[in-house]
Amino acid sequence: MFISEEVEIFSGDYLNNPFGSKKDKRIDNWLSILNKLPLIKEVNVNLQNQVSVDFQCEDMLEIEELILQLLPWRKGPFKLNDINIDSEWDSSKKWIRFKELELDLQDKTILDVGSGNGYYAFRMIGDGADQVLCLEPNLVHVSQFASINHFVGSKKIRMVPERLENSGLRNTNFDLIFSMGLLYHQRNPIEHLHELNSLLAAGGKIIIETIISPDQFESGIQPTEGNYASMPNVHYVHTDFGCKELFEKLNLEVIRETKPVFTNFEEQRKTRWMPFKSFESALDSKDTTLTIEGYPAPARKFYLLGQKS
Ligand SMILES: C[S@@+](CC[C@H](N)C(=O)[O-])C[C@H]1O[C@@H](n2cnc3c(N)ncnc32)[C@H](O)[C@@H]1O
Repeated sequence: MFISEEVEIFSGDYLNNPFGSKKDKRIDNWLSILNKLPLIKEVNVNLQNQVSVDFQCEDMLEIEELILQLLPWRKGPFKLNDINIDSEWDSSKKWIRFKELELDLQDKTILDVGSGNGYYAFRMIGDGADQVLCLEPNLVHVSQFASINHFVGSKKIRMVPERLENSGLRNTNFDLIFSMGLLYHQRNPIEHLHELNSLLAAGGKIIIETIISPDQFESGIQPTEGNYASMPNVHYVHTDFGCKELFEKLNLEVIRETKPVFTNFEEQRKTRWMPFKSFESALDSKDTTLTIEGYPAPARKFYLLGQKS
């Protein structure tokens, strides 16, 4: 059984078709790309400190051409033999910051909300997690996960193309719930935290990673028209104080936290695998302490939360 009876049923439908009954004119093309990926032999998977797969294959060029068609690759990197999927974000940097929380993932059941293409889920399994359910409504990410897991072949990760609030999950309690890069996109951050909390096992932990604005903004910044650092749909960038106010309202205590770290051009940049606008268009070119909209540049921080007794 995958995590619980409820999750087994909810996620099982996506094992044969990662997009389920979703409607999108790109799906036929993605399925045809995924079906062309060759069966591989002598597979050696490494999910510790990286996501890499070595295997026997005659035609690596064909694999590279197929996988490039799934761009933009925002999260990674992934290594398939000598193909280096050099994504826009070097997501290993966020995972190194996560490790500062010193949280043991061994044998844990995990919900990763807004998982992107599953880069972190692979790293969670590499760090000993038992099973990871990923929720990710963006179908490009879902196609990328299916392509990477074709090579990794993990049965410990499933991805479902749904938003948390539409998932209908009610009767499952996860040991750990991750929400990384989501809080500032929420119209109702309290409701988001409440939904995460409602799926947490007794003694479980919530991991929030978010952008933090400087202390002088009291509870936070509300970007005009939802644009912040070139990102649309940013409703609220909390200060540390603002985050802690939110957690307090939900009776969640901060067990550990990391120091805010400014995003830089090593962590986020344009690459061959994400050739569109990137971090350079997020900042004011004359003053990189500001976003192009004139707000403080993004700094990101982790919180490890538990329920107060
Ligand atoms: C900024 S990205 C962060 C991706 C990844 N968690 C990371 O930290 O790199 C936010 C992701 O959450 C997804 N997302 C947004 N709202 C969501 C929701 N309500 N439920 C689940 N996923 C959501 C988006 O599609 C997007 O891939």
